[in-house]
Amino acid sequence: MTMQPTPPQNLSLFEHHDPQADDKAPLSAPLLTPEALNLLAQTAQGELCKADTRQALESLRLEYLGRKGVITQLKRSLKDVPEDYRIALGQQLNELSNTLTQQVNERQRVFELAELDAQLESERIDVTMPGITIPHGVTHPLSATINEIAQIFQAMGYGLLDDDVCPEVETEYYNFEALNFAPDHPARDMQDTFYTSVAPNVLLRSQTSNAQIRYMESRIKAGQKPPFKILAPGRVYRNEAVNSRKNVLFHQIEGLLVAENVRFSDLKGTLQQFIDVFFGQARRVRFRASYFPFTEPSAEVDVFWDRYGWLEVLGCGMVHPNVLRAVGLNPDQYSGFAFGLGVERLAMLKLGIEDIRLFYQNDVRFLTQVGK
Ligand code: DAH
Repeated sequence: MTMQPTPPQNLSLFEHHDPQADDKAPLSAPLLTPEALNLLAQTAQGELCKADTRQALESLRLEYLGRKGVITQLKRSLKDVPEDYRIALGQQLNELSNTLTQQVNERQRVFELAELDAQLESERIDVTMPGITIPHGVTHPLSATINEIAQIFQAMGYGLLDDDVCPEVETEYYNFEALNFAPDHPARDMQDTFYTSVAPNVLLRSQTSNAQIRYMESRIKAGQKPPFKILAPGRVYRNEAVNSRKNVLFHQIEGLLVAENVRFSDLKGTLQQFIDVFFGQARRVRFRASYFPFTEPSAEVDVFWDRYGWLEVLGCGMVHPNVLRAVGLNPDQYSGFAFGLGVERLAMLKLGIEDIRLFYQNDVRFLTQVGK
C-alpha cells in the first residue's frame, strides 16, 4: 500500500483578497495543495464568469495569470514542494493555468464580438433610406418669363437695358411729356398715376416707355447715333382697383428699334417671330389699329386661343416723330418701332394662371409649382 502524501493542512485560500487589487498588489497565493487548487479553480472560474466588462476581466486576468498573479506565484513556489507531490501538483497547476487562460480568452472574445456588434450597429447605413433633400429656390415665374422674353429678343440682336438707365420714380417729362402725351391726357390723371410728395411732377412710372427717352437721350449725349435696338424690362405702377386681372404694380418690357428706313412690316415680322417662339408654335396673330401718343400708327396685337378667342398681348407702333424730336433725332432721317409687353399677361397665358395676385403673394406652393 502506497502512502498518500499528506498535503499541508492549511486550506485557507487567500491571506487577503482585495477585489480592486492590481498587478502591484497581487493576491497572496494559497498554499500549494490539490484541495487548495480545486478551491482556487472554483473561485477563479466563478469570478471570471461574472466579469461583465473588459476591464473587470483584465484585472482578473492579472490577478490570476499576470506576472505577479496567483498562478504564477504558485508555479514559482512549486520548487519548494516536496518532490513526491511536485509532479502531480505541477500538472494540476498547469491544467488550471490552461483552463483559466482559455476561459479568459473566450470571455475576451465575447466582449470583442459585442463591441464589434455595437460598432457595426452604430455605423450602419441604411441605403434604402430616402436622401436628405436640401430645398433650393426656383426662379420667380415673372423673372423666368422676363428672362425667356429677353433671350428671344437677344437672339434677334436686341440689347438688354440696365435697370439704372430708367428709374421707377420718374418725372412727368419722361413718363408722359417727351412721349408726346398731351398735357390733358387722361393717363396723367391722379386716378391712373401715383404722384409722389417729392415734387408735383415726380411720379411712379406708369409704363416702361420712359426707357425709350432715357435710353436714346443717354446714347445721343454720349455721341452715338442710331441704329438703336434695345429691350427694357421693369416694374410699373398704376392706381387701379386690384382684382384677378389687375394689380397696382406689374411688369412691362419695352422694346425699341430706331434706324433708317424702318417699316411697319419690320415690326410685324419681329413680333410674329417673338410670339411663335414664346408660345412654342406658329400662332394666329392680328394687328388691330389702336392709339398711343408715342407711336403713329399704333396697333394692339391679339393672339388667337382656341379656348378664349382673340386676346390682346401687347401694344406697339411706329415711333412718333415727336418722340424722335424730343431726343434730338431728325424724323426725316430716322424711323423706328416700339412695343410694350405686359409680363404678367404673357406669363398667365403661357402658364395657365388665372389670378394675377398669385405672383405677388410669395406662396411657396405656387412658386414651386410654376417656377423653374
Ligand atoms: N406703354 C404702353 C402701355 O403701358 C404700352 C405700349 C404700347 C408700349 C405701344 C409701346 C408701344 O412701346 O409702342 O399701355
